[in-house]
Amino acid sequence: VHWTAEEKQLITSIWAKVDVSVVGPKTLACLLFVYPWTQRFFSHFGNLSSATAISGNPRVKAHGQKVLASFGDAVKNLDNIKDTFAKLSELHCNKLHVDPENFKLLGNILIIILGGQFGKDFTPAAHAAFQKLVYVVAHALARLYH
Ligand code: HEM
Repeated sequence: VHWTAEEKQLITSIWAKVDVSVVGPKTLACLLFVYPWTQRFFSHFGNLSSATAISGNPRVKAHGQKVLASFGDAVKNLDNIKDTFAKLSELHCNKLHVDPENFKLLGNILIIILGGQFGKDFTPAAHAAFQKLVYVVAHALARLYH
């Protein structure tokens, strides 16, 4: 993937203002609510019976934070996203059996949350750069599927 200097700058400057402990839980909770079939991967997390239950679930919060921190590794390794997610690709494929389509769903939800959070600062150019990033991450995570 080629990143322009502007894309890199947009991504890193927005990411510097992202509070992973807030945006991570929100993103995962939103995924589980909007695309309820994703709940099947997290049935061991306990109560996911309503939007309130999902967003108040401590395991959803903790895992959302973990996932978004991991997503942040992509921002730190923009020129080497494939290798950065090789291990996680193997985990999600061989062990967790997550359908890779779900990576795109999560990425698109993240963009909606960022848009809500940053408002007019999430410019069309920033949106485009993030759209590219979430697809590159989704692709990297899906890479070792077979
Ligand atoms: C676990 C990252 C998307 C399902 C994990 C872990 C990380 C991670 C870092 C913890 C791995 C470990 O403990 O060693 C990501 C990233 C994603 C993503 C960066 C996309 C940007 C998804 C999606 C699903 C999913 C879309 C399902 C809909 C799971 C499950 C676990 C897991 C079920 C194990 C949870 C547990 O029992 O603790 N993921 N993930 N992931 N992920 Fe993902």
